[in-house]
Amino acid sequence: MHKIAVIPGDGTGPEVVREGLKVLEAASKKFKFQYETKEFDFSGKRYLETGKMVDDKDVEELKKYSAIYLGAVGDPDVKPGIIETGVLLKLRFALDQYINLRPVKLYSPDFCPLKDKNPEDIDFVVVRENSEGLYKGMGEFKDKGTKEEVAIQISYNTRKGVERCIRYAFEYTRKRNKRKKLTLCGKTNVLTYAWNLWERVFYEVAKEYPDITVDYAHVDATTMWFVKNPEWFDVIVTDNIFGDIITDLGAMIQGGMGIAAGGNINPEGVSMFEPIGGSAPKYTGKNIINPLAAICAAGMMLDNLGQAEAAQAIENSVIKVATQKLKTLAAGKMGYSTGEVGDLVVENIQK
Ligand code: IPM
Ligand code: MN
Repeated sequence: MHKIAVIPGDGTGPEVVREGLKVLEAASKKFKFQYETKEFDFSGKRYLETGKMVDDKDVEELKKYSAIYLGAVGDPDVKPGIIETGVLLKLRFALDQYINLRPVKLYSPDFCPLKDKNPEDIDFVVVRENSEGLYKGMGEFKDKGTKEEVAIQISYNTRKGVERCIRYAFEYTRKRNKRKKLTLCGKTNVLTYAWNLWERVFYEVAKEYPDITVDYAHVDATTMWFVKNPEWFDVIVTDNIFGDIITDLGAMIQGGMGIAAGGNINPEGVSMFEPIGGSAPKYTGKNIINPLAAICAAGMMLDNLGQAEAAQAIENSVIKVATQKLKTLAAGKMGYSTGEVGDLVVENIQK
């Protein structure tokens, strides 16, 4: 029995999660697996009403689950940063979800803003370190508010943290078994402490994986290659902030936030799956947001729970709906409502 904690969250989160759960139900019937869900209200609204976010007791409770399914966090009525740190980052850190796995896969040339790029050209995965780096929140102000003010923000990289991420990326590249190429994306030429460590560990671990081709690209060049030659990439491993930045660009070249999903993975613990776009406040409650990213996140979750066949069926259905039914992947322009898109995905799975 898979126990799934559901966090609909803010904005359009609840709308897209609803569709993901519809698809989950259809998949469980078709592929005969049992699951139960429990909803957790960690949202901007609850914060405004009660001042509460995710506390240590919540974390202990969530540890009892097989996986977490998250909609979105971010409420325009709450100062930016509060919910993000108090809910999303809190969960990632407290549950030690040290990998953020973000596939970038183009399903149809129609979805790609780049000229002459086809699905075979854009099919890679970013392995983003998810527990350290600049996200550690380390730093300080000196002489705050004065003309002499200094703000220091530290990128914190431990040997253990870097190594476990890099090892995961090598294992993942091997298991993915596509081009068997792993690219380290960094900034060794300027950030000479952090990226020196990353580079050393990367090439050291690489020796254990002679079947994997290794490569290195500076982060700025990586963004250039995403646009110019995305076909060069198979798996990319990078730190927290670079991974954050390049995966938004990755999402755009695969067709936008409507389709991009990711997993916050703790290979030894509880992982959390989410569409990577935000809470899209301007579309909230209109039934026009694209739920495919959330549905893909549900598929990734099932894969992580060992339901590979169901996960594949969900992806196949998403591809069919995206390429054969929707006019575009953009909210409000799909030609179908949020709920209808969910129903279309369900129909294919039931067939
Ligand atoms: C993401 C988001 C988060 C991040 C924010 C909401 C804290 O942008 O998941 O990529 O920066 O990691
Ligand atoms: Mn981001």
